[in-house]
Amino acid sequence: MNFPVFISTYLEEALTKAGFASVDALSQIKASSDSKFGDYQFNGSMGLAKEAKVSPRKVAEKIVEFFALPDVLEPVEIAGPGFLNLRIKPQWLAEKIQEMAADPRLGVLKPDKVKTFVIDFSSPNVAKPMHVGHLRSTILGDSLARTLRFFGHTVITDNHLGDWGTQFGIILHGYKNMLDEKAFQNEPVKELARLYVEVRKLFKTPEEIAKGVIDPVQNACRDETAKMHKGDQTNLELWRKFMPVCLGEIDLVYQRLGVRFDHTYGESFYQPFLNKVVQDLSASGLARESEGALAIFLTEDATPALIRKSDGAFTYMTTDLATIQYRVEQWKPDAILYVVDSRQSLHFSQLFQIAQQWLGQQTRLEHISFGSVLGADRKPIKTRSGDAVASLDQLLDEAVRLAKEVYQAAYHQEGETQSKESLEDLNRVGDVVGIGAVKYADLCQNRTSDYVFNWEKMMAMEGNTATYMQYAYARNRSIFRKGELNPDNYRNALIPVLLDTVEERALALQLFRFEEALTLALVDYKPSLITSYLWDVAKAYSVFFQNCPVLKAPNEGIRQSRLLLCDLTARVLKQGLELLGISVLEKM
Ligand code: ARG
Repeated sequence: MNFPVFISTYLEEALTKAGFASVDALSQIKASSDSKFGDYQFNGSMGLAKEAKVSPRKVAEKIVEFFALPDVLEPVEIAGPGFLNLRIKPQWLAEKIQEMAADPRLGVLKPDKVKTFVIDFSSPNVAKPMHVGHLRSTILGDSLARTLRFFGHTVITDNHLGDWGTQFGIILHGYKNMLDEKAFQNEPVKELARLYVEVRKLFKTPEEIAKGVIDPVQNACRDETAKMHKGDQTNLELWRKFMPVCLGEIDLVYQRLGVRFDHTYGESFYQPFLNKVVQDLSASGLARESEGALAIFLTEDATPALIRKSDGAFTYMTTDLATIQYRVEQWKPDAILYVVDSRQSLHFSQLFQIAQQWLGQQTRLEHISFGSVLGADRKPIKTRSGDAVASLDQLLDEAVRLAKEVYQAAYHQEGETQSKESLEDLNRVGDVVGIGAVKYADLCQNRTSDYVFNWEKMMAMEGNTATYMQYAYARNRSIFRKGELNPDNYRNALIPVLLDTVEERALALQLFRFEEALTLALVDYKPSLITSYLWDVAKAYSVFFQNCPVLKAPNEGIRQSRLLLCDLTARVLKQGLELLGISVLEKM
């Protein structure tokens, strides 16, 4: 249940009865930062007081007079200038926790109106290895897809590969001029990556080019791309030869990350449509000739968006316009989300304006932008001149290696000798913990900010990390193994929930907030609000666990209730992590 939504309708009713202007009560209800101020606070009295020309305190008193939910809330307290402190009754909270435990969806309701979303994410330029820069879009997009689906929305994921661009010109040139035939036979991906890097090394720097230095290699690469676009047989054949190799490589990364797409319609897919798109845009008067090119001027003074260059080539913009038209016709989505680096903001703002003028307003188009991943030097980690070293695959290898190290160290600390079985487990743990750490470290950042990539921090066993959550989960499961109890027994509404201690109540309140947290995370598409919620749950659980004996509870009723709270915590952690694309282990 989403408590602020639930309570806001009652608050609005009270406001009307008290004779105040109607307000959006929901926007004025916040979870309290300190339990001194109740569980939630309503902050709307101040705004209403101005309008009604009375003191905020008077407003608050009036609201309280008309607002009563005897079974749900303790008597409402007025604090400070006129805040309303709302405290949930333990009995009501206990009932809600019981209902949540009995619900496979953990109390999360499906929305009245289910929507269709297309999510364009990951979308790397193929023909060069995926690097850490591709991590954010892939992980964020996957998490948003999972979360929207969990709510019951229809989600179509589409990996808009850059499979038709200049990078192919580079490997075509390399293939024709510097191929190591044998290497290509044995390890085609590696050889293509090598060619890419070698050719890029021959390019002049932007500074040199600005000074007028000629760049024969770059020009040759451009010619190869242009020939491919014009349908040159040799180049197209090579493209068809390279593509499966390139795709095989990136698929391996997706497999390791546990990310899948409904569609992978790359840029090449839209080539047959581009002529028609450009004709359409010209005919409708949106595009016009400018210095031999075809351009769209959104405002007279802004840089125009080119849809056909003077040499006849179509652009990134043209393809993206064709893509929107295709998606709208094909899937009739309510929204298309583009999970792409903030450096492409200008492109998307132009794209959305043009698309809206061209096709109308039926589909919401949103750029879910994000900041860069920085190295220790605080500069974006990227493939400088196609540097293959920071490849995503190697990065994941390193994460898995470190995770195994952390796990083994923890094992020895506990003074146990490692059995053969546990060594076999090591690989499994390495994957789940290593990949989980990388994902969580990314998702827990505010997506619009840059963040510094830091191995030590992300692998830490204490703090807001996947490793911590995974350990909390596994330790929680061990309680049930130790007590020889079946967790399923705690997934029905028959066990009375008792919230007599501060710690039990605090944990129950966090668990109760699950739907609210997920809903908030979707308002601005910020999975970091899921991680911070899970962190709150884990902290409340840890305090509960230190203070409230579970298997050795003072009596059977309390023991059962505490086991139910434990099991529900495990389910919330597991489900929450799953929405982030992170797995758990029953045993670690
Ligand atoms: N391939 C592009 C790049 O690597 C990202 C594509 C994003 N999606 C889109 N529809 N433009 O920069």
